[in-house]
Amino acid sequence: MQEETHRTVGDRDVIVINRRSFFGTLLALGTAGMGALLAVPVLRYVLYPLYARSRQSEWSAAGEMTEFASLTEPIRRTIAFSRRDGWREVLSSQSVYVTRGADGQLKVLSAICPHLGCSVSWQPGQGEFVCPCHGGRFAADGKHISGPPPRGMDSLPHEIQEGKLLVHFDYFRSNVPNREVLS
Ligand code: FES
Repeated sequence: MQEETHRTVGDRDVIVINRRSFFGTLLALGTAGMGALLAVPVLRYVLYPLYARSRQSEWSAAGEMTEFASLTEPIRRTIAFSRRDGWREVLSSQSVYVTRGADGQLKVLSAICPHLGCSVSWQPGQGEFVCPCHGGRFAADGKHISGPPPRGMDSLPHEIQEGKLLVHFDYFRSNVPNREVLS
């Protein structure tokens, strides 16, 4: 059955749409609209890991400020935090060192060696940080002294709230001269 007809009115070609054709078009438009509406949440779900991958939501408590008031050498602390990895919320813990910078201000260092990611530890007898993997050495404020690491230990954002030291743990690209935050 023909649903559109062409008529000539004067010198013009006129398309006449009958009722069945009109409702068919309306139905098609409605279906397309519903499809688009349903596709949005599906697309958001599928693409979520791409834009959420690097999100780390929280600040972690590293201790009471009173513990660091008379700091004379770096103190190791383990902090816990959660990170989003794709669709999953992953709980992690990492070691950090609370120390003082050259200016005397409090500083928090990641214990992850900026060379290839081994765990750096403070050696009180030597008065420096030493990495067990390739012998990288760092001063108490994290400055690079010797060995293969291409930069000093990575400092972490921190703040003080209600007498507590809060740290935002970041991961950094290893074995490059400048700090590059990964997440
Ligand atoms: S991983 Fe630390 S010096 Fe190589």
